[in-house]
Amino acid sequence: MANSSQRPDRPSFAIINGETIPFEDAKISIMAPGLTFAVTVFEGLRGYWRRDKNQLYVFRMEDHLKRQEFSMKLIELDDPPSAEDTAKHIIDVLRANKMREDCYIRTQAYVDDWGDMIATGPVSSSVICRARARVDAFQTGKDFVVVSWRRNADDASPPRIKVSANYLNSRLAGLEAKRSDASAIILNRDGTVSEGPGGCLFLCRDGKLITPTINDGILESITRDTLLTLAADVGVEVQERRIGRTELHLATEGFYCGTGQEMTPINSIDGKPLGDGKPGPITRMLQAAYDDLVRGRNEKYLHWLTPALPAKAGEG
Ligand SMILES: Cc1ncc(COP(=O)(O)O)c(C=O)c1O
Repeated sequence: MANSSQRPDRPSFAIINGETIPFEDAKISIMAPGLTFAVTVFEGLRGYWRRDKNQLYVFRMEDHLKRQEFSMKLIELDDPPSAEDTAKHIIDVLRANKMREDCYIRTQAYVDDWGDMIATGPVSSSVICRARARVDAFQTGKDFVVVSWRRNADDASPPRIKVSANYLNSRLAGLEAKRSDASAIILNRDGTVSEGPGGCLFLCRDGKLITPTINDGILESITRDTLLTLAADVGVEVQERRIGRTELHLATEGFYCGTGQEMTPINSIDGKPLGDGKPGPITRMLQAAYDDLVRGRNEKYLHWLTPALPAKAGEG
């Protein structure tokens, strides 16, 4: 694995506490509770480049910032960065790095400096962006396995918020699945389906989609919400309900979704193919609709796309 200075997607600049600084100077103290106790909330967003408009669009920025506000409220951060300021920092970092391709943006707010696990400040924030093309699995799909680790409970380490501490559970699940060269499906303590380490799950049964509810140990995913909206638009029924483990094997197709991977078709679960083991027709239809939406070809959802570059660059 290349170290960060060798990575081709390494940005030139990062933003710390609102200030644009060289990426290599963006550091965190080894005494920060944000590091030791994972007292850090974050968001991952995507920027989509449109060559025809010479413009970069940030997808559902307001919704990501709203979720970050809730995460910060729940873990009790003093004087957290406002959504307005973070929105400005996102635009600033994209411009500073002259981003002109599909990219990923990460915002973070964390307890900095020196403190214990219940320290609520001082709070620092960071924003970075890096080039990130669509993942190959969007086309090819992936194999999935149910892992033995169970999803952290809402009354223990709530999956509803995007806090770094939750990603230990995701990491353990992801590592176990990787040993089978697959991606993870995590069950709740009661054996029902929750989500994957970094995305939500949809399955298709009898021509209808099913997906776990927002009380089934999942992050309230913005991609999931987008797909629920799109499915309604194209007339595909979706049931949000608890999903039993054996239903995974009754599904004829399915996909995994989140900002990073967008939509990854599920080819098999625990070695059993879904349908013919290739991305199914409903998955393909929703992928096309998703691509139209994020690339601004669906007029109805242009309000979900925030232009990041100055108007001058947006001309033509
Ligand atoms: C655990 C988890 N679930 C679901 C998602 C998908 O959420 P979103 O669609 O908002 O990116 C993510 C990714 O952010 C995640 O980390």
